Amino acid sequence: PAAAEGDVTSFDFKELEAGIDTNHHVAEGYETQILLRWGDPIFPDSPEFDPLAQSAEKQRRQFGYNSDFIGFFPIDNSATHGLLVANHEYTNEELMFAGVGRQDTKENPFAKMTKDLVDIEIAAHGGAVVELIRSGPQWSVVKDSKFNRRITADTEMQLTGPAAGHERMKTSADATGARVLGMINNCAGGVTPWGTWLSAEENIHGYFIGALPEGHRETANYKRLDLGKPAYAWGKFHDRFDVSKEPNEPNRFGWIVEIDPFDPDFVPKKRTALGRFKHEGAAGIINKDGRYVIYQGDDERFDYVYKFVTERTVDTANAKANLDILDTGTLFVAKYNADGSGEWMPIVFGQGSLTETNGFKSQADVLIETRRAADLLGATRMDRPEDIETSAHTNRVYVMLTNNDKRKAEHADAANPRADNKFGHIIEMLPEGDDHAATKFKWEVLVRCGDPSIAEVGATFSSETTKNGWFGMPDNCVIDSKGRLWVATDGNNAKMTGRADGLWALETQGEKRGTSKHFFRVPAGAEMCGPFFTADDENLFLAVQHPGEFDDDKNSATFENPLTRWPDFKDSMPPRPSVIVVTKKGGGAIA
Ligand code: FEO
Ligand code: CA
Ligand code: CA
Ligand code: CA
Repeated sequence: PAAAEGDVTSFDFKELEAGIDTNHHVAEGYETQILLRWGDPIFPDSPEFDPLAQSAEKQRRQFGYNSDFIGFFPIDNSATHGLLVANHEYTNEELMFAGVGRQDTKENPFAKMTKDLVDIEIAAHGGAVVELIRSGPQWSVVKDSKFNRRITADTEMQLTGPAAGHERMKTSADATGARVLGMINNCAGGVTPWGTWLSAEENIHGYFIGALPEGHRETANYKRLDLGKPAYAWGKFHDRFDVSKEPNEPNRFGWIVEIDPFDPDFVPKKRTALGRFKHEGAAGIINKDGRYVIYQGDDERFDYVYKFVTERTVDTANAKANLDILDTGTLFVAKYNADGSGEWMPIVFGQGSLTETNGFKSQADVLIETRRAADLLGATRMDRPEDIETSAHTNRVYVMLTNNDKRKAEHADAANPRADNKFGHIIEMLPEGDDHAATKFKWEVLVRCGDPSIAEVGATFSSETTKNGWFGMPDNCVIDSKGRLWVATDGNNAKMTGRADGLWALETQGEKRGTSKHFFRVPAGAEMCGPFFTADDENLFLAVQHPGEFDDDKNSATFENPLTRWPDFKDSMPPRPSVIVVTKKGGGAIA
């Protein structure tokens, strides 16, 4: 049952000043430790990082690039000893490699990308499992841990669920349609109560070059996912990333991947029942009937909010019994009505318009083209759904809608009320009867983001929110053990807002609802990722993604000339995306 209003504690830390410079900053009374930088050794035999002598072989033994989601799995219920998992979402070749510069120019794309550099990128993608231990205030990496693992865009994985083994999933390297190499562009994610890590493949379209043969059946499918605008040169050197040679390969990406971090030999599973789109994340909750419910955003302008409800209930006594629970269940897409009600529409082959008339012959077809199925059902077209989290305290669901500068006034609706929505908004949903499996819900806009002092922006933070407290572009989020919402941002920068991205604490209940306070900010060029608390709220893991990246001028930031050399600040070191941990000086919960 839902907790009463006011049950959630308010924040009482002293607010950080908003701004932007080359370093990170945290609220007074807290300290930060850099835990894992790009290239840091994570095994006893890992080579030290040398940016001018990097190789794929070395990278496979080192921490990867651009962590987005991070999670922490306690060992023996400890808040000071456990496994950190991190997604390595994407690579910035202009910042990683000397002399390369930006490679996505129309004139001569990828001219300077060699096979060696591409192979480093492939090894820097994926994810990592790293055992950590805290002694006093200091955390350290346990390099000789039996659990430490690098997963890359080349690691063998298994496709499971309704789309596994389908004709459209088969390639020349895989006649089974169920074995795939690697995961790519893994953005946010989640941890399940049965001890697994869910990792969400997001912008997979940028990894494929080439054109499909004329009239190929996947033409509309790939167009709906924006393939055809490559951001990486991988297909120049690896045929599977060239759709003219391997037309089905993209169907094997764009899924939720489940990994058991406590089993270093675990073959990661791509759970196709959860749909295929640009998955932002996969945070879930055990429903009151015992089933598991995962809310999911599809991060694209005008795309959708989804949820998946398992068929089986979670076995809380036997973790291993849940390992295949995500292979059977129902995927739904959301419709937000103007009166504050909403409906979850099932994405099930044979129901509604999801039939042969519309080109679907099976649930596999429906899942491979989840977006088209949701289009046909008339789901509500949202302003880029990013992370979604659910409060176990109140059953309320928070949806980050990051921005949508393409929304015209005539397309504004109740759930996406602003034209040219530069700063995004957050929607709060409450499932009918506190039942996350219900097909009805109520919703309202919790806050419209942006600077409340500029009337045209139309921001709706509470009047108690200071000039430091407002934010734009909500992206990742987390709910702490007290049920409080923390929002990380992506897209604030000197040109847009005069402030860096960071972490804000947003009140959701009682008189302070809509009041936001600034807690942490990243160095120039970076976005704020993570965030994840240990169960006692005494340690907050954060990821600083792409520090030093271009701000407004796309050609301005390179290996030679980044916006910052955070966190090493050495002329010989490029900026290095890193995972950090925040603790309270003298100990105690982050308040
Ligand atoms: Fe990878 Fe939607 O952010
Ligand atoms: Ca994100
Ligand atoms: Ca999250
Ligand atoms: Ca992002």
